[in-house]
Amino acid sequence: MRMHTRVGIIGAGPAGLFLALLLSLEGIDSIVIENRSRAEVESTIRAGVLEQGTVDLMLEMGIGQRMHREGVVHHGIELRFDGCGHRINLYELTNGRAIMIYPQHEVIKDCIAARLQQGGQILFNVQDVQLSAVASDQPIIHFMHEQEQVELHCDFIAGCDGFHGVSRSCIPLSVQHVYSRAYPFGWLGILLQAPPSAKELIYAYHQRGFALVSTRSPEIQRMYIQCDPQDDIANWSDEMIIEELQARLVTDNNWQLRVGPIIQKNIVAMRSFVIEPMQYGRLFLAGDAAHIVPPTGAKGLNLAIADVRHLARALALFYQQQREDLLAAYSATCLQRVWRTEHFSWWMTSMLHRFPDDDPFQQRMQRAQLDYTVNSHAASMSLAENYAGLPFSVQP
Ligand code: FAD
Ligand code: PHB
Repeated sequence: MRMHTRVGIIGAGPAGLFLALLLSLEGIDSIVIENRSRAEVESTIRAGVLEQGTVDLMLEMGIGQRMHREGVVHHGIELRFDGCGHRINLYELTNGRAIMIYPQHEVIKDCIAARLQQGGQILFNVQDVQLSAVASDQPIIHFMHEQEQVELHCDFIAGCDGFHGVSRSCIPLSVQHVYSRAYPFGWLGILLQAPPSAKELIYAYHQRGFALVSTRSPEIQRMYIQCDPQDDIANWSDEMIIEELQARLVTDNNWQLRVGPIIQKNIVAMRSFVIEPMQYGRLFLAGDAAHIVPPTGAKGLNLAIADVRHLARALALFYQQQREDLLAAYSATCLQRVWRTEHFSWWMTSMLHRFPDDDPFQQRMQRAQLDYTVNSHAASMSLAENYAGLPFSVQP
């Protein structure tokens, strides 16, 4: 079967779905293909924190009503170390910016509902996705859908297929530069059926390792502890996880973790990764397909959305005014924010985790950095403006 669209989008994650919706606001048709089922895409537990800019964009796009009703705005976060909590007042330090706690899978559900309501196409459960002629002006996506071999002819292809997708490998090795770092630890994440233990997120540095207290709803809490990235989740009983959280979060003033049944647990590895350039011919990479950050800064989803804002605008100017300059500048434009975010996420990760090979000197460095971050107005402000999200710069 032969199909045609202006923009073929691979992947129905935040990057692919936001791109499809932004393009449709500009009257540009696209088809999204996704290799998982709708149910799977809508139930994968990942991010929880939306930057101010992402929240504003969702409201502008008309997909933010449920987020506005059910999400929770946080004006600060806590950094906890040496048994003591220190609040970073994001709102005051950024002149009124904040974050929204609204889970990624709920964002995904809202995007899919909006896309289908507009009559837009998302083909789920596709298989054997391959790209061809990406350097020409008629690139093609080949795939199987409902037992049929499909050739999707496009003007442009957006590779929004995440870190394990196929798009990135279409950039020839002679052209690409990869920058990466694997961290010697992972995160063990849980969903806990219990009331919130705190009003805001807690990032804790402790001799036993990092811990994070986040939330999903008044009934379900999200928490993470630093662990060995090779560890098997089967080695962690629920009691061990709770004990470890309690030990790492302990305070001098008898703060209590509210506990309950653990309803989900898994381990994720942590890495930093960037491919340059993010474009080759008519293939444009966006989101995790092009870059990964460790989750300590809560940035991955937000960065994916910043990429597709640039891409949607560049494509709109191409179709409406035959301008190619923004498309040509796409990679360089995105990479500015990508590297800022890579630095922030690496910095937060380095400050808050125990490194297996660290020595007393390195630990003192971390302590000095934490002290400075919570006690200096300038340092708190720097953390706050990065965490709440730097403004999105619109190109002329
Ligand atoms: P993905 O979400 O990975 O979407 C890619 C899609 O492409 C997937 O649906 C996949 O099935 C599909 N796909 C893959 N291969 C193919 C193929 N060959 N053909 C068709 N489809 C394909 N970010 C934040 O901003 N805030 C947070 O608080 C935060 N917390 C996190 C916590 C954890 C534990 C983790 C792991 C991540 C967290 N992130 C966070 C990061 C965030 O989840 C990702 O950066 C985000 O999902 C990236 O979106 P994406 O659309 O680029 O990629
Ligand atoms: C989450 O709620 O899943 C979450 C929150 C903050 C992070 C990472 C993940 O830095």
